[in-house]
Amino acid sequence: MKAQTTAATPPAFTDAVALGALVADARRQGKPIGLVPTMGALHAGHLSLVDTAARECGFTVVTIFVNPTQFGPNEDFASYPRTLDADLQALAGRGIDAVFVPSTDAMYRPGHSTYVEMAGPALVLEGEFRPGHFRGVATVVLKLFNLVRPDRAYFGRKDFQQALLMRRMVEDLNLPIAIEVCPIVREPDGLALSSRNVYLSPDERRRALAISQSLRLARELVERGTTDARTILARMHERLAADDLRVDYVALADPNTLEPVDVVNRPVVAAIAARVGATRLIDNEMLGEASSEK
Ligand code: PAF
Repeated sequence: MKAQTTAATPPAFTDAVALGALVADARRQGKPIGLVPTMGALHAGHLSLVDTAARECGFTVVTIFVNPTQFGPNEDFASYPRTLDADLQALAGRGIDAVFVPSTDAMYRPGHSTYVEMAGPALVLEGEFRPGHFRGVATVVLKLFNLVRPDRAYFGRKDFQQALLMRRMVEDLNLPIAIEVCPIVREPDGLALSSRNVYLSPDERRRALAISQSLRLARELVERGTTDARTILARMHERLAADDLRVDYVALADPNTLEPVDVVNRPVVAAIAARVGATRLIDNEMLGEASSEK
């Protein structure tokens, strides 16, 4: 009988100094360093980032850290899924060189007083409904960049605004890091993968499809020649209301500035944040350009 071999899980570090020494060694060998920042509860969307990073980089670090500073006081920091053992198993055999799992105390030492404040496109959409969210994201990502010093960092397009802001941050702060943005991964029925999908009851899971269906409707309207943003937005709202979703925002925006557009006659991002029961989900779709994610 053939022995079953299981791939070893990648080495996990809680200590930034030990991780830094390993990364420095890889850098000395001329290996491009890749970073995939995550909050764990890894799903196929994360794993697509991980696989892309492992393919493109000589040394890849995945970080798993549920960052308290990006959650608002009434958000799900306490209940956010924490599945470290399963995450490490999911990373086994994927060409990852190290996993960084810092403690909250190590990331935010007593007296921590420095934060990255972002303006412009950080103040709309998620920024409007989750005040302080991007301050927390930018702060923790900059800290991870400083600890790992990657050449490339990988983000998912589901968090369109986050990815845009990370590009802004590296440009504004002159960080020599390429931000790579990977496509949204969806369930076969269209639901965008999210760590928060585990919160959905079967009925909420069915109703959550209204989000991707509303985005698809927007794309179809544009493909059939509708350019008036108000018409498209009204149809999107209608679709979401049909399944009783509570909308935070439905937006058609310039993909670089996130300013709202009146006419969809060029590439535009359609973005939604809506609540299904107690679960807040976000999703987006590019309109007015060939989509690779139909
Ligand atoms: O997208 C996420 O999971 C988080 O916002 C990130 C980038 C890991 C920062 O905590």
